Amino acid sequence: MKNFSFYNPTKVLFGKGEVDKVGKLVKEYGNTVLLVYGKSSIKRSGLYDKVVSLLEKEDIKIIDFGGIDPNPRIESIREGGDLCKKHNVDLVLAVGGGSTIDASKGIASAALYDGDPWDFYSYKVESKGALPIASILTLAATGSEMNAGTVVTNFATKDKNGWGSPFTNPKFSILDPVNTFTVSPHQTGCGIVDALTHVYEFYFSNEDAYLNDRVCEGIMKTIIHYGPKAIENPEDYTARANLMFGATLALNGVTGFAKDFEGFNHSTEHVLSAFYDIAHADGLSILAPHWMEYILSDKTVNKFYEFAVNVWGVHPNKDKMKVAKEGIKRVFTYYKSLNMPLYLTDLDITNPPLEEILDKAVKGETIGRFVALTKDDVKNILTKAL
Ligand code: NZQ
Ligand code: ZN
Repeated sequence: MKNFSFYNPTKVLFGKGEVDKVGKLVKEYGNTVLLVYGKSSIKRSGLYDKVVSLLEKEDIKIIDFGGIDPNPRIESIREGGDLCKKHNVDLVLAVGGGSTIDASKGIASAALYDGDPWDFYSYKVESKGALPIASILTLAATGSEMNAGTVVTNFATKDKNGWGSPFTNPKFSILDPVNTFTVSPHQTGCGIVDALTHVYEFYFSNEDAYLNDRVCEGIMKTIIHYGPKAIENPEDYTARANLMFGATLALNGVTGFAKDFEGFNHSTEHVLSAFYDIAHADGLSILAPHWMEYILSDKTVNKFYEFAVNVWGVHPNKDKMKVAKEGIKRVFTYYKSLNMPLYLTDLDITNPPLEEILDKAVKGETIGRFVALTKDDVKNILTKAL
């Protein structure tokens, strides 16, 4: 087992009614808050009014900044950063899904930087600090509520890039599953697929890390079990709660002990999102099953056998290849049952500019750590997924 270091400073407040504590928690950081949110969901659900009244009760001045897009834009980061500077904001509070939380991390970093925040996303400059960030999560998916990552798109250059720093972990995140009752069936499906793919990124590894694998399998089984229940009955608290905490654990570091991020699915999907502005998990849903089929070989069969038996409940059998194939087939079937796309054409993407996409996705010789893939391999996977 490889050496590793683990540090996660985010305080998590989980469960029904925890939002009531937000005023007092924010007050610990100051008197002025930038309230960041998406298009309309928190206004429709009543969460916006509730949060505003809890903050006002503590005499906290609110600088309102709504309208963050799914696939947040660099323009929002610039605008939010300027607002923080202008109003001497003490804390950036995100109320929403991964896009809103990611945007808040970029904004909090831009607030302490004199240049263009795209410098961070284009890896020109390393961020040296950020305002404190906190979140109230409304969508179980990305894990952004308990990690340092921020992923933002520059549609002018067709780049969707991510980074994180020791300053971008939220100070606290409030996870009340009730706030996810209003998430649509499609967005719930996206959350399921995104969280599963986060686990794949560490599970599919050549490192020998037995405990890590069992943690990964526990998280995947939980998400697979409760995901459809949440879609069927959106107000099933137990299902929403398991999905929410499962998605948080999927990318808060606990699945990554002693392992490296595999990388193919996320790097390639971010390129698709930057070209087509599709939901992140729609892209992952198309890529991951085809990637699995493509990389299954005598070298990888043992891992896929474990995946099939331990995660998907395929009956063990001496013919490991047959069992492994059945496991991958279950991934296709499960995603289909969630009404998630399996082919690019399901999203009306035909004739994608493959060479341009490949140039952005494969920056070095190869991509992926479990199985190193060349541009030709990636082209084959994308062609399979057409
Ligand atoms: O904008 P509003 O009106 O809030 O609607 C949103 C949006 O349309 C809606 N929504 C959120 N909570 C809701 C709700 N609708 C009803 N009820 C609620 N309670 O859902 C839609 C999608 O929201 P978004 O925040 O975009 O979804 P998600 O959480 O999946 O975030 C996706 C973004 O996160 C990035 C992705 O690339 C993508 O840009 N990621 C961030 C990561 C990280 N920070 O660690 C890792 C991921 O791999 C991913 O890359
Ligand atoms: Zn993801």
